[in-house]
Amino acid sequence: MISKKVEDRLNKQIELEGYSSQLYLSMASWAEKSGYNSTAKFLYAHAEEERLHMLKLFSYINDRGGHAIVPEIKMPPSEFDSVYDVFKQIYGHEVMISGSINDLVGVCVDERDFTTQNFLQWYVNEQIEEENLARNILDKLELLGDDKARLFLFERDLDSIIMQNNQTE
Ligand code: FEO
Repeated sequence: MISKKVEDRLNKQIELEGYSSQLYLSMASWAEKSGYNSTAKFLYAHAEEERLHMLKLFSYINDRGGHAIVPEIKMPPSEFDSVYDVFKQIYGHEVMISGSINDLVGVCVDERDFTTQNFLQWYVNEQIEEENLARNILDKLELLGDDKARLFLFERDLDSIIMQNNQTE
């Protein structure tokens, strides 16, 4: 059984993961209509991953005697300045999510809920990967600059970055 405090905080995390999914989806749509097809593919796939992060929380809360709540999710931005801007926002967003997961672990420690703390270890590890991936892509974009021809090369490289990332998972 989880405490009300842990349950509420896990439900808050559901909202954040749901927002993450919508944010990536919105970014994917922008990239697709702007002609960045590999970027769009990456972002659509990531929107699905975020939905799975959210659903994992649903199962956990309900399995532990709580009630997972479908949240109202605010509308994400729909316009972005560039592919660089997209990944810069992703990096900032993932750093914020990592902070939220760490706070949540802190609540579990305060409540002496070591089972939930253990469950959250998966998210802690996932956030290390997510931040690294976003940072890696951002570094690449910084080297290439915003030149359209070079972005074509970035698009080509993105598939191999994704492949490398999948191999390390
Ligand atoms: Fe579910 Fe990108 O954090």
